Amino acid sequence: MKNIVIVGFMGTGKTAVSKVLASRLKWQRLCIDDMIEWKVGKPISRIFEEDGEVRFRKIESQMVASAAKDKNVVVDAGGGVVIDEQNIRRLKDHGTIFCLTATPDVILERTRACGHRPLLQVEDPLHEIKELLGRRKEYYKRADHVIETSDITPDEAADEILKIMQESESEKRHLIFA
Ligand code: S3P
Repeated sequence: MKNIVIVGFMGTGKTAVSKVLASRLKWQRLCIDDMIEWKVGKPISRIFEEDGEVRFRKIESQMVASAAKDKNVVVDAGGGVVIDEQNIRRLKDHGTIFCLTATPDVILERTRACGHRPLLQVEDPLHEIKELLGRRKEYYKRADHVIETSDITPDEAADEILKIMQESESEKRHLIFA
């Protein structure tokens, strides 16, 4: 089976869903944000603050390139990974990309409690969420499948993803033996 790559805006459930998937499949979960923090040796908020977003994106692309080559992994990609065409191409080489979505209100609710997302540390986060979602809409469309998570649990989202993966596997087998 191909790798499973989870993309989507902040607060759409990527971390929770990728953890469920990795544990069900007994696959390794690669979190691009964690890889960046390990590589640089400081939290993402400090990378943005001290080195800037451009440097962050550069390291993000390096981590994507390395994670995309792995086999039997669930990749939890940060919300901005899709902006770079090359990132998407690399991830699609060995993986199926699922984009998680949620409404702006749900995203606000889910992200409100944690201060580790530098892009949402603004006076009016809901406005910023809508603005960024609008700007990124076209990029998120590059995913192979979209799963709306506003009204479902991480377990239910994982069920949907695994069903799609299994269907595409049996379709492939069918084509081979046809
Ligand atoms: C970002 C999303 C974050 C993290 C960084 C930038 C973005 O990841 O990579 O703060 O540009 O949307 P999560 O989506 O996992 O919060």
